[in-house]
Amino acid sequence: MADRGPAIGIFDSGVGGLTVFAQVAQRLPAESIVYLGDTARVPYGTKSGDTVLRYAIGCTDVLVARGIKMLVVACNTASAYALDVLPEHLDMPVLGVIEPGAKRAVDLSRRGRIGVIGTASTIASRAYDKAILRMAPNAKVFSKPCPLFVPLAEEGWVEGPVPRQVAAAYLDELLQNDIDTLVLGCTHYPLLKDIIAETAGTDVVLVDSAEATSQAVADTLAGLSLEREQKGPPEYSFLVTDAPGNFGRIGERFLGRPISPIEWVDVSNA
Ligand code: DGL
Repeated sequence: MADRGPAIGIFDSGVGGLTVFAQVAQRLPAESIVYLGDTARVPYGTKSGDTVLRYAIGCTDVLVARGIKMLVVACNTASAYALDVLPEHLDMPVLGVIEPGAKRAVDLSRRGRIGVIGTASTIASRAYDKAILRMAPNAKVFSKPCPLFVPLAEEGWVEGPVPRQVAAAYLDELLQNDIDTLVLGCTHYPLLKDIIAETAGTDVVLVDSAEATSQAVADTLAGLSLEREQKGPPEYSFLVTDAPGNFGRIGERFLGRPISPIEWVDVSNA
């Protein structure tokens, strides 16, 4: 087999992080990627910080054992609770989705009124608020958990009256606060971008954390001269912690391409 060089490791609680995979693969088409979806323990977005941290360490161990050159925490909830801790244990660059998303929001916001939507645990962590206020101390951050967007995205209910009503109910308070920028702070929300944009209106700029993260991955690899040198196509590997069936079926919609092979891995000791 051709030596494809070390891959970028990406993990998420399940299929959602494939939105980050898709952005990274699009921006860095030469890079090999190994993706881990912790499908046995999804969702992370309803769990406590301690539990999410423990799961994130387990996922990291699996990917590090695969010889990755860089770790990307695609899950917003895991980024919120684990990103302060993971880099201490690793001898490689580690990126989450929150800093890149927050930075993009600060750069794009015209009036410093920034909305953030995410899972209940991400919003409870206030990780986006803290990151935004670190970069722009005068900004006003308004956040709102939007848990129903996750099952809607997984069910493929991304258009029509049901997601429209859900979006209207969730975004109402943020829009009343006159936000000018809205961070999609969850892996699943890019699938609902059209409905969210329609509900938020043309005055609100949407920030896709997945897209912002792919730029940060590219910058980090370039800055550390870690880009792939080998010729030939990249290799994509997909690992899951539960049976592969649903991951493959739902994940194809998130990734926009077929997913195979899918390998089961054990995180029972994590
Ligand atoms: N991946 C999670 C996130 O971005 C959403 C799904 C979950 O709750 O695990 O926060």
